[in-house]
Amino acid sequence: MKSIIDILDLSTDEIEELIAVAEDIIQNPRAYAHRMEGKKLATLFFEPSTRTRMSFEAAMYELGGNVISMASAASSSAAKGESVADTVKTVSCYADIIAMRHPKEGAALVAANSASVPVINAGDGGHCHPTQTLADLFTIRREKGRFSGLTVGVCGDLKFGRTVHSLINALSRYPDVHFVLISPEELKVPSYVKRDVLAKKGIPYEQTTNLEGVIGDLDILYMTRVQRERFFNEEDYLRLRDSYILTPEKLKGAKADLSVMHPLPRVNEISVAIDDDPRACYFKQVKNGKYMRMALILKLIGGDGQ
Ligand code: NCD
Repeated sequence: MKSIIDILDLSTDEIEELIAVAEDIIQNPRAYAHRMEGKKLATLFFEPSTRTRMSFEAAMYELGGNVISMASAASSSAAKGESVADTVKTVSCYADIIAMRHPKEGAALVAANSASVPVINAGDGGHCHPTQTLADLFTIRREKGRFSGLTVGVCGDLKFGRTVHSLINALSRYPDVHFVLISPEELKVPSYVKRDVLAKKGIPYEQTTNLEGVIGDLDILYMTRVQRERFFNEEDYLRLRDSYILTPEKLKGAKADLSVMHPLPRVNEISVAIDDDPRACYFKQVKNGKYMRMALILKLIGGDGQ
């Protein structure tokens, strides 16, 4: 039984397999429509979510399976003081697989150690978010045809943005990737990511506060929301929240084949005027995420013949 807590729990070969299955699901959806019959996914969300929870649920339904859901901490026994470990032990009695989001870093690991079914980390605090990265990787593959040799700009809240940490980890395994880390001083990539991933693997990166100055170099621009819920005070959030707003004007300096990505939700980081630009990929990411979650569910509970 395998749980997915970190994107590095999947090898690059396994990621290739998931991409191949996701592509096949898109081509032959009917072949997958009954693969999870009789199986249940439990979604346990102790933090708000639209896309991640609903795409896990849509993924399971499209595989012919069923879903049981805890959509908020407030409506569960967590509100009475139950531990994550006890909650997942309980839910393991009802479901074949669990997707869990929690505000505390490390909660997914605690859950995986207590559950008797596979646990998928759907986001643990400011730490990581591996299935968003699967959506991101599939989108990059479909847009660019490759992972290697890309200049990837990551912009916004690089400190608390868990999707950023997982994406850097994932892309660091491919040759010739170069990161441009664009953030306010206060929201730089945490030093553990720089030390344990970028420096350790000798991956070239630069840090800047100036998006306009680097936008022309990028193959991918991954915008992120300033993570209000992880700030200690509202004043800092208000000061930093509009640090970067991508507008059609700023995009004029970008490559014609730039891919503009965002894990969503968007607050103010990308002007809606960009949504119709062919370079906008963020709603494609949403769709791709569902297919990758289908492929992951199949892999973890054996619907693909493993
Ligand atoms: C992200 C998250 O939850 O970390 N959302 C998502 O799952 N697509 C990004 C965010 O909330 O800013």
